[in-house]
Amino acid sequence: MLAIAGIGVAAASAYYWARKPRPSQPPFDLQHQTIVEGPELIHYSRFTQKGNGMKFMRYLYEDTKTLYDVFPRGARISNNGPCLGWRNATTKEYQWMNYKETMSRSQNFGSGLVALGLKPGPDTLVGVYSQNNPEWVLSEYGLYSNSMVVVPLYDTLGPDASRFIINQAEMSLVICENEDKCKSLLTDTPACLKIMVHIKPISNATVELAKSKGITTLSFEYVENLGAQNKHKPTVPPKPEDLCIVCYTSGTTGNPKGVMLTHENVIADASAILLHMGDEKPNKTDVMISFLPLAHMLERISHLVLYIGGGSIGFFGGDVRHLMDDMVALKPTITPAVPRIFNRIYDKVQSGLKSSSVKRFLFNTALSSKENDLRRGIMGKNTIWDKLVLKKVQDAMGGRIRLIVVGSAPLAGAVMTFMRCALGCVIIECYGLTECAAPTTLTVNGDFTSEHVGTPIPCCAIKLVDVPDMNYFAVSGRGEICIKGTNVFKGYFKDPEKTKETIDKDGWLHTGDIGTFLDNGTLKIIDRKKHIFKLSQGEYIAPEKIESLYMKSQYVAQVFVHGESIKSCVIGIIVPDEEFIKQYAEIRGFFGSFSVLCNVAEIKQLIMNDITELGKKGGLKSFEQVKDIYLHPELFTVQNGLLTPVLKSKRPDLRTYFKRQLEEMYSKLD
Ligand SMILES: *[C@@H]1O[C@H](CO)[C@@H](O)[C@H](O)[C@H]1NC(C)=O
Ligand SMILES: *[C@@H]1O[C@H](CO)[C@@H](O)[C@H](O)[C@H]1NC(C)=O
Ligand SMILES: *[C@@H]1O[C@H](CO)[C@@H](O)[C@H](O)[C@H]1NC(C)=O
Ligand SMILES: *[C@@H]1O[C@H](CO)[C@@H](O)[C@H](O)[C@H]1NC(C)=O
Repeated sequence: MLAIAGIGVAAASAYYWARKPRPSQPPFDLQHQTIVEGPELIHYSRFTQKGNGMKFMRYLYEDTKTLYDVFPRGARISNNGPCLGWRNATTKEYQWMNYKETMSRSQNFGSGLVALGLKPGPDTLVGVYSQNNPEWVLSEYGLYSNSMVVVPLYDTLGPDASRFIINQAEMSLVICENEDKCKSLLTDTPACLKIMVHIKPISNATVELAKSKGITTLSFEYVENLGAQNKHKPTVPPKPEDLCIVCYTSGTTGNPKGVMLTHENVIADASAILLHMGDEKPNKTDVMISFLPLAHMLERISHLVLYIGGGSIGFFGGDVRHLMDDMVALKPTITPAVPRIFNRIYDKVQSGLKSSSVKRFLFNTALSSKENDLRRGIMGKNTIWDKLVLKKVQDAMGGRIRLIVVGSAPLAGAVMTFMRCALGCVIIECYGLTECAAPTTLTVNGDFTSEHVGTPIPCCAIKLVDVPDMNYFAVSGRGEICIKGTNVFKGYFKDPEKTKETIDKDGWLHTGDIGTFLDNGTLKIIDRKKHIFKLSQGEYIAPEKIESLYMKSQYVAQVFVHGESIKSCVIGIIVPDEEFIKQYAEIRGFFGSFSVLCNVAEIKQLIMNDITELGKKGGLKSFEQVKDIYLHPELFTVQNGLLTPVLKSKRPDLRTYFKRQLEEMYSKLD
């Protein structure tokens, strides 16, 4: 068996030299990826235009300055090629709507809304509450054709949040996918809501229920037809400075905040991405699969970038469990992704290899051969290893993927390298917030290193500012990431207070993320201000809240709760209360010093049970509860450098101090 593998290696080398792969050409020296200006060390994209100062990009194409311009451009570039695709319920094949049809149907829908009495212009906000589907896009671009504003509603916001949003935005009309979503808006319905447009059929009972609340229900088709009959009325196209979307985001506390983005914000972001991507940017031959929620900016920007390039979008069938099946049917060339998906593929492949040592050997040889190529700047899927070993992984995604953009949470380096080698395609990592229209940094073509998020794109600049509480200082290269540029939002809807907290007087958006610029100019995210972080499944954790609940335990003197964005659970370091532990030990007949008692399993279990109970009583969700603890016999003090002078935990120092214990706990939980 091993001999066969050996032949494989020889064959692979021969094949490899025959192909003479050439390293990809980065657009510039990868050791100097940004332009740094001024005493504040402001980092700009190397694609930023110099002129009178540094100029932030607003648009890339003269004919595309608002979202209304996007479909006409796509139609021209693709020669009216396919635009939106979905799976036919009977044939299971994808069927397509071309650009001109998409354009005219969306305009009809927009005209239909105006015929129903909605006022054209950016003061009219309309909700869209649906999974990804063609109607979502038709609704959105229909609204733009009359300068109206789209407000996505989505399930994870919760029903209270939806009501809050409908009220705050004073929406009279919401576009709703189906029966369930219509019904969820029909309890405690906000008084301003008058019309529900349903995409799929709804029951007569729901029609009646709506009627009893003074709400008219209309089908999507009806509105489209109504618009077709009122076509003679001209559309009211938006201006770049007009609002196009209010994108609500949930915080850890309080009501959701409505992020106001203009056409210019969104077009600038998409244009900067296109310029940054260079030769890798989408073109009319590209097909993207759409499954990440359209309610989030990353997905919407991905759509936009495809449309501007004249490519096509195929929607998944609506169930993520069948995503791979959709991919095989669609054979996409591009997909956006989140780390969760990569982690799942990685785990699946790893566990598939467990059964056979030969398979494992072949697979690992294949990977290390490709990793070698990667280090020399060579990327592709033409090696014999791809044909022999890796094709299965590639075929699971349809076999044609050439570009993946991954964002929204950090990705472990090992997983990133694995995916690059196994798929042999360009994987770009990005970083951004809804407040700056999503991607704000991207990795550069030809940079195959991981664990950084690349450089600012040419519509914005980034600087770091001090966070003294957390020991981060810009002079030593670490601080809060602040962003300025044409993609930065106009403020939170009806919330000048929060807006002022977020955008300073010089126009810098304070992200709350802590970053550092590596020597070559790439940005690395290292922490989160106010000690709020996301776990790998996307849940927010506020460790101080958890700590204050655990502190109620008589057995706990001090506690430090720790989590990482590449892990799915939190763990803790606890300094037990010496007095209570000694009392307990005496009753149970344990002897020894306090350090010895800290190593007694029963004592650890006692504390674990007590804090879990307290956490439960305090309303912690299960992902907020620590999954393991380490008992430390020595208090955190100002003297040992683990507390600030006002006796708050120095989190970065605690993390460094307990690095070994934290890693050990995670290694057992993984
Ligand atoms: C599905 O495809 C068949 C065959 O092409 C076609 O006749 C039918 O109209 C399609 N279904 C829908 C709902 O469009
Ligand atoms: C629902 O209402 C429509 C129109 O009033 C009627 O034609 C249809 O039969 C009703 N369907 C059911 C299931 O009652
Ligand atoms: C589209 O992009 C791909 C990948 O960069 C490239 O191979 C192809 O030639 C491009 N096609 C067109 C029509 O520009
Ligand atoms: C950029 O710098 C980081 C940190 O020194 C390094 O890990 C990475 O490999 C560098 N990137 C490139 C493309 O050399």
